[in-house]
Parts: sequence; C-alpha cells; structure tokens
Amino acid sequence: MIEFYPQIKFVHILCVILSGSLFTLRGVLMLLRSRFTNHVALRMLSYAIDTTLLTAALMLITLLHQYPFVQAWLTVKVLFLVLYIVLGVLALKRGRTRRAQVTSFVAALLVYAFIISVAMAHNPWGVFARFLT
Ligand code: HEM
Repeated sequence: MIEFYPQIKFVHILCVILSGSLFTLRGVLMLLRSRFTNHVALRMLSYAIDTTLLTAALMLITLLHQYPFVQAWLTVKVLFLVLYIVLGVLALKRGRTRRAQVTSFVAALLVYAFIISVAMAHNPWGVFARFLT
C-alpha cells in the first residue's frame, strides 16, 4: 500500500484545491445573493469532494503511522477543519445577518489557508512558525 502514497497524497491535495475552489465559488454566489448558492448539485459535489479528501487523509495517516492527537500539526488540522466547517455553514446557510455571513465567509477562507500552511510546514503554527522560532 505504501507504494501508492504519492498517488494518495496527490488525490488529497487535488481535493484540497477543488474543495477550496468550490467553497469560494459558493461564497461568491452567496455575496451575489444567487439562488444557486445552496443548489443541490453544488451541495452534492461538495460532499463528494470532501468525503474523498478526508478518506485520502485517513489513508495517509494510516500509512504514515502519524495520528491527530499524537502529532501536534495533525491535531491542529483536525481542530481547524471543524472550525472551517462551522464557519462554512454560517457563511452559506445559517448566518442570520448579511454581516454574519460575509464575516464567516472571509474567516473560513483565512482558516482554510492556515490549514494549508500547517500542512506544508508540518508545524502546528503553520505560517506563523517563522515568527516564533
Ligand atoms: C483533518 C483531516 C486531515 C488530515 C488527517 C490530513 C492529513 C494529511 C497528511 C498525513 C498529509 C501528508 C503529509 C506528508 O506526506 O508529508 C497531508 C498533506 C496535505 N494536506 Fe492534509 N489532512 C487533513 C485535512 C486537510 C485539509 C482540510 C487541508 C486543506 C485545507 C489539507 C491540506 C493538505 C496539504 C496542502 C498537504 C500537502 C502538504 C505538503 O506539501 O507536503 N489537509 N494531510
């Protein structure tokens, strides 16, 4: 199985790009007050991409024998992923006011970018690591 590690990582990263792009598209539709923001086709595509992303993530940690709540950078990824999901739901669906929706959308994008920096640095501080060492 380990021989497929590069391919699985490729699928993980591809899904990261697709997931972020689709969320951005839906966020822009929300800003434009489009009725397609939560269209069933976009929601289904989103579930499919995110399920593939997380399945690939589970395969990677199993192959690496590095797990969240053991490795700090993976713990941060999981915790910030939860925050990203909450902010995403507020931005696209549950935000009560326009201001709450827009703020949640921008915050979700920042959290997503931070998770990517944590992944690339293998460091729980991600992009901020260079200022702390
Ligand atoms: C919580 C679920 C997740 C887990 C357990 C997980 C786990 C992993 C693992 C084990 C790797 C391989 C690291 C390596 O080969 O050195 C990886 C790579 C990566 N992950 Fe995730 N991931 C998760 C979610 C995410 C999310 C939501 C994003 C984006 C926001 C993301 C972005 C990345 C990126 C960009 C890489 C490539 C880093 C590099 O350049 O080596 N991951 N992830």
